[in-house]
Amino acid sequence: MSLPKKVKLVDVGPRDGLQNEAQPVSTAAKIELIHRLQDAGLQYVQATAFVSPKWVPQMADNMQVMAGIQRKPGVSYPVLVPNRKGLDAAIAAGCKEIVVFGAATEAFSKKNTNCTIAEGVARFSEVCAEALAQGIKVRGDMSVCLGCPYEGEVSPEAVARLAREFDQIGCQEITICDTIGTGTAGQTRAAIEAVAKYIAIDRLAIHMHDTYGQAIANIYAALECGITIFDSSVAGLGGCPYAKGATGNVATEDVLYLLDGLGIETGVDMKKLIAAGEFICGVLGRPTSSRAGKAIATKMAA
Ligand code: HMG
Ligand code: MG
Repeated sequence: MSLPKKVKLVDVGPRDGLQNEAQPVSTAAKIELIHRLQDAGLQYVQATAFVSPKWVPQMADNMQVMAGIQRKPGVSYPVLVPNRKGLDAAIAAGCKEIVVFGAATEAFSKKNTNCTIAEGVARFSEVCAEALAQGIKVRGDMSVCLGCPYEGEVSPEAVARLAREFDQIGCQEITICDTIGTGTAGQTRAAIEAVAKYIAIDRLAIHMHDTYGQAIANIYAALECGITIFDSSVAGLGGCPYAKGATGNVATEDVLYLLDGLGIETGVDMKKLIAAGEFICGVLGRPTSSRAGKAIATKMAA
């Protein structure tokens, strides 16, 4: 089995990691986190979300975050966009990459975006067309691909159906997301294989939450399938406000430890990444959720 030599790591910490945080997090802290992640070598940092502040108050400072970032050449700062209003704001903020997001189940689509799957796709069709016309890259994230908090099991066919629709409306990259972190390696493989019948494997990304501790095994399964794009969150921060009980994304430090061990190139410096995690954990007043991050930091301190 040959694994990829190089992968694209997307740190979603500033967005997914912080969107669910109950305590206020200052704009300055969000900006410093983004700076620290780019200094650690991450070339893709999901910076914020242009969603309704009524739905996700923590992302209400999206404009200020984008304005405060000192953009580093070669680094991309994708942002979430749920509708035309979000796209217009993202364009005004100078965003060059957006992420639209739908769900593999009707119940989650309704809870997260207050619309059916079809209504969401129709909404995103206009968003994608306008974004692409303006030279903005578009990714489509598909939530609850490996299990839904409201509907339970999700079939790989339902995931493939949404992937085809996202492909048809122009999403250049499409993400299989385990929103509640219940999926196992076999389910990961089945979802990838179902989607890969229609979408080239190099356009597929994986976004795992780590609630059940399966994310690293799932990422390894995805690597074996030929996936080269992975989302993760520094210090394992994160969660979706509309997926109760789900914990953070897989920690970037843990993914990096796996990839470094396999000799797969990422361009990310572990020590600087751990320092970025320590910074944001200090702001939030809680310890890291990264096993590798904690172990390496303890060793370095000794
Ligand atoms: P709605 O209530 O049906 O829409 O929400 P609306 O058009 O009636 O808007 C309600 C209010 O929000 C209005 O304000 C709008 O102007 C405003 P009012 O008139 O009452 O004063 N509004 C906006 N304001 C700023 N920016 C906007 C915007 N849109 C409307 N873009 C809507 C529909 C889609 C807007 C809402 O449901 C929403 O924002 N949902 C986003 C929820 C969210 O961000 N969830 C977390 C991110 S997804 C995630 O975490 C999963 C992911 O990580 C992958 C995975 O793990 O699965 C990506
Ligand atoms: Mg997520």
